[in-house]
Amino acid sequence: MSTIAILGTGSYAPERVLTNNDLAHMVETSDEWIRSRSGIRERRIAGDGEQTSDMGVQAARRALDDAGLKPTDIDLLVVATLTPDMPMPAAACLIQQKLGMRTDVACFDVNAACSGFLYALDTAWAMVQSGRYRKALVIGVEKLSAIVDWQDRTTCVLFGDGAGAAVLGPGDDSNRGLIGLRLGTYGDGVDLLCIPRGGSAAPATAESIAARDHCMRMKGKEVFKLAVRMMDEAARDILEHYQLRADQISLVIPHQANLRIIEAISQYLELPMDRFFVNVDRYGNTSAASIPIALDEARRSGRIRAGDVTLLVAFGAGLTYGSALIRW
Ligand code: UT7
Repeated sequence: MSTIAILGTGSYAPERVLTNNDLAHMVETSDEWIRSRSGIRERRIAGDGEQTSDMGVQAARRALDDAGLKPTDIDLLVVATLTPDMPMPAAACLIQQKLGMRTDVACFDVNAACSGFLYALDTAWAMVQSGRYRKALVIGVEKLSAIVDWQDRTTCVLFGDGAGAAVLGPGDDSNRGLIGLRLGTYGDGVDLLCIPRGGSAAPATAESIAARDHCMRMKGKEVFKLAVRMMDEAARDILEHYQLRADQISLVIPHQANLRIIEAISQYLELPMDRFFVNVDRYGNTSAASIPIALDEARRSGRIRAGDVTLLVAFGAGLTYGSALIRW
């Protein structure tokens, strides 16, 4: 079987910056609390009228430029998001139209929350590997500012907006490309992180809107503990499966939820923090966009060199988890 490789990456962050001090004027919090509990200093917020699909298009254009391809070269578009422009149709359909892609292209969304980019990557990988699709565009994009409860200090300080993208296709070197992905889910944890109402089980009512129950709710402490355990297990599982040692990984790109979670995984894996890519301080948690933004920044800042093996690892609402190994 031929190797499937990442041919290009791109990312986009909206211009508007919301600092911890800005938040301290909105809810009872402080820069000191947010920085010490999460490592976040600021996050980006989509501009007025700037939609999920618009951010996805920006990241996609940069990834296509990086790959030396045009939108019309793509025949598969998979978008990971939990904040599509509207519940129906998929954000992928809006992105197809805005990017000017061909019509004979499969376009759909994947919702696996913060693990979404890895779920989308695995889906696209399998579809390209099958030989039925040649070149795939995989986007992770979120406008979390639209579903955050801006009166809930336990969540609103953590999240931000942004987009990241990767182009996937047959590689020209059989030693480089995606080594593999592993995905999983602990459905027992559904209630720990969810949007309780606004779905088909409890459609929006005047009361649910007044109670802000169409916003994200999280049991932070429980999620924190499970996040550390699941990301550590996901990393160990994929290393064992592909018979690699942790010290053979040049760079880990973890889901950027909380600096303390990343530090705990660094300790458990006995890998120093300089092998972990961190940008949670600048973007907060951008859910499905977090890994592709970090991957793009890592590549563009020279943190990934030819021959390196990179480990991507994520967890999110569901509770979903995933990991991926890529040789560059
Ligand atoms: O992508 C997956 C998404 N989620 C995550 O990865 C989040 C995982 N969880 C976390 O990152 C952490 O649990 C948090 C950062 C959310 C919270 O940190 P913590 O160390 O677990 O704090 P805590 O929830 O135990 O709260 C400690 C105190 C509480 O006050 P009391 O009960 O001790 O008086 C909170 O009410 O801090 C209070 N608190 C705040 N204080 C100032 C909670 N949020 C804030 C805030 N500013 N924003």
